Amino acid sequence: MDNQVRSRITLDYTGMMSSSQNPKGFKEKELFDLQNVMDQAQASLLIRRDAGELDFSKLLDPMKAQLSGLIEYANAVAAKFDNFVVLGIGGSALGPLAIHQALNHYYYNDLPPEKRGHRPRFYVMDNIDPVRFNELLQVLDPRKTLFNVVSKSGNTSETMAQFLIVRDTLRRVCGEHYAEHIVITTDKEKGNLLPIALKEGYQRFVIPAGIGGRFSELTPVGLLAAAICGIDVHQLLEGALAMDQCIRNSKGLLSNPAQLRSALAHLSWQKGKNISVFMPYADGLKTMADWYAQLWAESLGKRVDRQGRIVHVGQTPVKALGVTDQHSQVQLYAEGPDDKVITFVTVDKFKETREIPIDLELPEDIQFLGGRTLEELLFAEQKATEYALTLAGRQHQKIMLSSLDAYSVGQLLLLLEWETAYMGELLNINAFDQPGVEEGKNGTYALMGRKGYEERKLDIEEYEITRYRLRTNFYGQTDEKY
Ligand code: PA5
Repeated sequence: MDNQVRSRITLDYTGMMSSSQNPKGFKEKELFDLQNVMDQAQASLLIRRDAGELDFSKLLDPMKAQLSGLIEYANAVAAKFDNFVVLGIGGSALGPLAIHQALNHYYYNDLPPEKRGHRPRFYVMDNIDPVRFNELLQVLDPRKTLFNVVSKSGNTSETMAQFLIVRDTLRRVCGEHYAEHIVITTDKEKGNLLPIALKEGYQRFVIPAGIGGRFSELTPVGLLAAAICGIDVHQLLEGALAMDQCIRNSKGLLSNPAQLRSALAHLSWQKGKNISVFMPYADGLKTMADWYAQLWAESLGKRVDRQGRIVHVGQTPVKALGVTDQHSQVQLYAEGPDDKVITFVTVDKFKETREIPIDLELPEDIQFLGGRTLEELLFAEQKATEYALTLAGRQHQKIMLSSLDAYSVGQLLLLLEWETAYMGELLNINAFDQPGVEEGKNGTYALMGRKGYEERKLDIEEYEITRYRLRTNFYGQTDEKY
């Protein structure tokens, strides 16, 4: 319990507020005047939760009850296979990746097996670039590989195409045992993947119906990969549950981190801050920034509100990494358009330390580094960036993790999910659908000749012809063929 209290996430929102250094920040009254609105949002979200719209929160407890079966399977296959590959895209890939990168060795796949606890190497194939796909299959021995096909809908073209190629390869290489190399994670009842799995006898895990892809990392989507690769999934869920309870049971901006973050996000959105930068100062959280970008973009970027009125809302998420992107993006944040809010994510204690050697023979201007550690340098750079942004009058805030462990990562995931749900309420939109993505999926079905999409195919072809007329190769040729 003590450990858990100590490892609670802390928010530092000083950089969002008005001060002598940054008079353009929010006034206290402005923020706390939102309390009524936030209470209404909370009441409405709790009703939605009861109605099954927020199962990412509601199903955490039932998921905990199913963990032992999942871990038992994970341990059995971990001992059997050298490689574990997730085939999936969007929410079906970013969650597993983010958890793995945050909690496992950064070069996990390059470690000798004994340093990986004799667990398989881990790969996520979240695209259909034929070069990357073929090159992955070139480095893996299918006989020693387990493929996890993850698709909530069981229909997504990219994942289905990957699955068909892998299934074909496995059939040729592994013969009658090919089905032992495939585990699927999909809906309990729907989709095209399910009947194939049932017919061919693949091991199967379920994504609960009420949880969308980007909210699904604490279902078997993320938990299976995590358990196979040796992550403490119990602690991950414990952290998530602690944050979930804190958010559901706390009233008031200063005791409810999702309320505070979404209130600040909403105020900034109203004041023209169209961009939300997520900038962890820990390489382990680099893909967490990818996951956050999807969560924020796909949930909140909407054309219509809940009443069907055209609104075109949504902050654009930008992923950045401290300190790397201090040398590529911070110039823009400090001096470019004042249209961004920056969230730093910091880790108080890294699991490794590295001292910088002292060498008194070196020029004095380098000597100051000697005897200090890499993390001291990193902390200093983060503070210096925060200070520079404050001086430039740019708003920023900080999510502080005491360490990068499973408990903290579980909390972080739930915090960001709840914050997104709150923001959906404040914007009066449905944060849990993705009609813009579905449109693209349907267009792909049409172009690839799926039955039932013939009319759409004709529409797209007509659009393509118009597009060709606007092409040029800069040699005076504007023929449609280009
Ligand atoms: O968050 C979402 O719903 C999407 O990003 C989906 O995860 C993505 O489109 C993949 O869909 P599916 O899991 O159905 O294959």
